[in-house]
Parts: sequence; C-alpha cells; structure tokens
Amino acid sequence: MSNKHHVCPVAIAGWLDNRVRRLYQNPRRILKPYVQEGMTVLDVGCGPGFFSVDMAQMVGKSGLVIAVDLHEAMLQKVRDKIIGTKLEKRIKLHKCEENKIGVSDDVDFVLLFYMVHEVLDKKRFFEEIKEILKPKGQIFIVEPPCHVLKSAFKRNIKKAVDVGFKDFKGPNMLFHKTAILKKG
Ligand SMILES: C[S@@+](CC[C@H](N)C(=O)[O-])C[C@H]1O[C@@H](n2cnc3c(N)ncnc32)[C@H](O)[C@@H]1O
Repeated sequence: MSNKHHVCPVAIAGWLDNRVRRLYQNPRRILKPYVQEGMTVLDVGCGPGFFSVDMAQMVGKSGLVIAVDLHEAMLQKVRDKIIGTKLEKRIKLHKCEENKIGVSDDVDFVLLFYMVHEVLDKKRFFEEIKEILKPKGQIFIVEPPCHVLKSAFKRNIKKAVDVGFKDFKGPNMLFHKTAILKKG
C-alpha cells in the first residue's frame, strides 16, 4: 500500500462500532430507504462491519452483502462477529487492493460510508463500481462533518458524475455530506 496515511487505521475500529454510534447512526434507520430483502449490496471500506452486519439482516436469506476492505484486520473483525451465526452465509468478505475493488458480482446497492476521501484514484474507483452496479442500482455516499470539506466533497462527486453517474440529493444527516448516485 503506497499512501498509508490516507487510510483509517485498524486501531480506530472501536470508534466505528459501538453502542453510542448506534444511537445516532442506527444502520437500519439510515439504510431502510435503500436496502431491501433479496438485494446484493456492496459495502466498500466496510471497516469493522458496523453497517455490513445490519445490512445482512435486511437483505435476508435470499440476499448477499459483499463487505470489502483494504485491511485484512478489519475483515477479521467482521468475521469474528458473524462466525457461527446465520449471517455467515449472507456476508462475503473480500480484501481489495488500494486501486482495485476486484468484485465481479452485479450489485443493487453500494454503501460508501466515511471512505471516499480515503480512495486515491477516485475516477477509477467510480468507473469500477459503474461496471458492476445494476441499471437501477444506487450508490449512497456519506462523508464526515469536519474531516471532509464541502469543496472536497463536491470535487469527489464531480468525479463520479464525470464517469457517468447522476447526482441526487442525499438524506439530511446532521453536519454530514451525503449523496445518492444513480446510473445516468
Ligand atoms: C473511516 S473507515 C469507515 C468504515 C465503515 N464504512 C464505517 O462507517 O464504519 C474507512 C474504511 O475504508 C477502508 N478503505 C480505505 N480506502 C479504501 C479503498 N480504496 N478500498 C477499500 N477500502 C478502503 C479503510 O481500511 C477503513 O476500514
């Protein structure tokens, strides 16, 4: 990995998955408008799986969550949570490369939560997602309040628009920047 300082360290996994976060960012409440039973969903930069595990419950037996991260140690945290449970079969863990997601399944929904700013080649990243997103699929992007300035957020969304996505207003999430992208 070339630019380690860009990427959220495994040591902060505890900050990303705890009861307090669940109070103000309840995964089911946030994702209810987008994730339905039977869907195949992609959680890129899944970290310790704060959203992946709830999404696996939401997609049900007939659905699939592909949880992707650069760090094997993050994926291990997800594995530890689901091992021996019914969710084990519903979550496929995938370690990606810095500049290649490397998933070939067609997906209905892509979650990019607190991670787009960490991606080095954003154009290439969005192009790769475009290849596997189904025609009516959606991408949901959420970026943090202070860490990512509005100007940087807009620049990143423009990169997605440049590769052919349409930008729709995301839901209101206090101080956060959000967007929904659909295929043009
Ligand atoms: C701030 S964490 C967010 C984790 C999770 N989405 C959440 O909201 O709890 C960012 C995650 O993205 C991962 N990441 C960074 N760049 C990535 C890339 N190019 N491809 C896949 N994962 C990446 C990091 O390893 C880290 O686990």
